[in-house]
Amino acid sequence: MATTRHDRAAGALLADHKARLQRASQALAVSAEEARLARSLRDAAIRDAVAAGLSLRQIGGALGLSPQGVATAAAQGQPIYNTIGRSYSRTRQPDPRIRDAIWAALGGARSVVNVGAGAGSYEPPQTLLAVEPSLVMVAQRPEGLAPAAVTTAERIPLPDDSVDAALCVLTVHHWPDVAAGFREIRRVARSAVVFTWDFEVSRRFWLCDYIPAINELDARIALPIPDLCSLLGTDDVRPVMVPHDCADGFLGAFWRRPEAYLDPEVRAGISSLARLDQSVANAGLELLVEDLRSGAWQRRYQALLERDEFDAGYRLVVARWDR
Ligand SMILES: C[S@@+](CC[C@H](N)C(=O)[O-])C[C@H]1O[C@@H](n2cnc3c(N)ncnc32)[C@H](O)[C@@H]1O
Repeated sequence: MATTRHDRAAGALLADHKARLQRASQALAVSAEEARLARSLRDAAIRDAVAAGLSLRQIGGALGLSPQGVATAAAQGQPIYNTIGRSYSRTRQPDPRIRDAIWAALGGARSVVNVGAGAGSYEPPQTLLAVEPSLVMVAQRPEGLAPAAVTTAERIPLPDDSVDAALCVLTVHHWPDVAAGFREIRRVARSAVVFTWDFEVSRRFWLCDYIPAINELDARIALPIPDLCSLLGTDDVRPVMVPHDCADGFLGAFWRRPEAYLDPEVRAGISSLARLDQSVANAGLELLVEDLRSGAWQRRYQALLERDEFDAGYRLVVARWDR
């Protein structure tokens, strides 16, 4: 087909525009790459400053960022517990009443492997070995606790049938292969005590009305209690009430102290808040601030303010296996 002068002119115009568009997008790619590099240098500097003990507020002051922004930046590209772990030992002290319930569930176990042990909260004195994949968590274990193996539930470095009990505290929802983790536990231990939460109860917690994304995330990660029971071969499920002054700052801990959720350091120690898109979390927290200021929260949850303990959905699931 013959090309007209008009076709040639249109082709040249198109080629000009294409070249210009390509140059512009190359420049954008280079500056995006530079920006990415600059951001990762800044985030690494933030992580080092946090590890050196500076507070989110101090770091934010030096950078012109909010403490929230600092926490978000520090989380970039890090395995979740290498990030959450940094503030963990400040906000996540074991609560003595919850400790008593967990230790009672261990019965007469004389040897324990603490799986997903973190910094060692609730670890009983008869623990032989802690299993924990995050080095940051291991580094926060106080002197005198059991030795820690930096590995996962799916690979426990113990012989068959070698401990009375396995303890798993607020950890199973992090395991990529829960069935493999519990196969390992049943191989090495004669019983198990799992502290976890029932999403069917926790989904009704008032904070989820402000930040519904908590439930969207929890629906994906929570291990349903019936599934856990069938993996463990048990139906022994014991509710654990949360005291109003709970020392362990997990998600449901501040049910009667709503202002606590406004503290970025508290939120940084709660994985289901720390993992959220922070703009989504902040939008919900702004509503909470407004309701606290106007008294709407206090009116809506008056009944809670009169209670000393609350069922936020936490459960102990206990299994003993005959050999
Ligand atoms: C919420 S923390 C609980 C730590 C501790 N048990 C406590 O109560 O303070 C969850 C822990 O599970 C660990 N974890 C993540 N994946 C794991 C896996 N596959 N096997 C064992 N632990 C795992 C995390 O590194 C983290 O320390």
